[in-house]
Amino acid sequence: TIFEEAGAGAARVAGEIAGLVRTKAQKGEQAVLGLATGSSPIGVYQELIRLHREEGLSFANVVTFNLDEYYPMPPDELQSYVYFMHAQLFDHVDIRPENIHIPDGTLPVEQVREYCLAYDKQIEAAGGLDLQLLGIGRTGHIGFNEPGSSIQSATRLVKLDPLTITDAAKDFIKEEYVPLRALTMGVGTIMKARQIVLLAWGEGKAKILRETVEGQISEQVPASFLQQHPRVQVVVDQWAALEL
Ligand code: GLP
Repeated sequence: TIFEEAGAGAARVAGEIAGLVRTKAQKGEQAVLGLATGSSPIGVYQELIRLHREEGLSFANVVTFNLDEYYPMPPDELQSYVYFMHAQLFDHVDIRPENIHIPDGTLPVEQVREYCLAYDKQIEAAGGLDLQLLGIGRTGHIGFNEPGSSIQSATRLVKLDPLTITDAAKDFIKEEYVPLRALTMGVGTIMKARQIVLLAWGEGKAKILRETVEGQISEQVPASFLQQHPRVQVVVDQWAALEL
């Protein structure tokens, strides 16, 4: 769906998420949301906060699993995705702290494998993701699944692509301060979500969006695997849609 401006697209997506959360609450069930960081979902989170404050949307029945985290990364660093999620959403709504899951960037490396397996198991135990929100990196990554990620990949420790490190430099003052690795849900983990919403705003995403939506399905553009998902929505502004 192409919107003239990002704000309208973000409001539509937030409305859909709110609808899902309310429907689940009416049935006495939990809504399990896969959440993303980066600039793309910020407008969605702002609208969800507004719906919470002004229209009584409750997050008491919401369970969240975040896509990724830099590694290594202490949770209280400004650049951590833990910090981001609290500042952009969790601190402003009534979500229960025990329902929040974000990959732990502080683990000793020898514990990472087991931790990642357990992360995928926790998602399954929660009933699977009802909806996964995604941004897209200029490498075609979803989460931090860089080119070369297989469609079956699970949550794991990955190396960041040089272009991703360059793009992240704005958040870390200097490129050399950007972590070289990250923990990320796998493409396989993401593909198991019952519904997926990919957001892309701005001309900087136009080329990779064309490759994602209209290009060949390939490990070289991990987001292109989404073409095989039965219920995926791509929500963009007119600038990201320029090359479609
Ligand atoms: C980071 C995140 C991705 C996100 C991407 C795009 O790499 N790990 O999940 O999609 O950035 O960021 P932005 O939304 O700021 O363009």
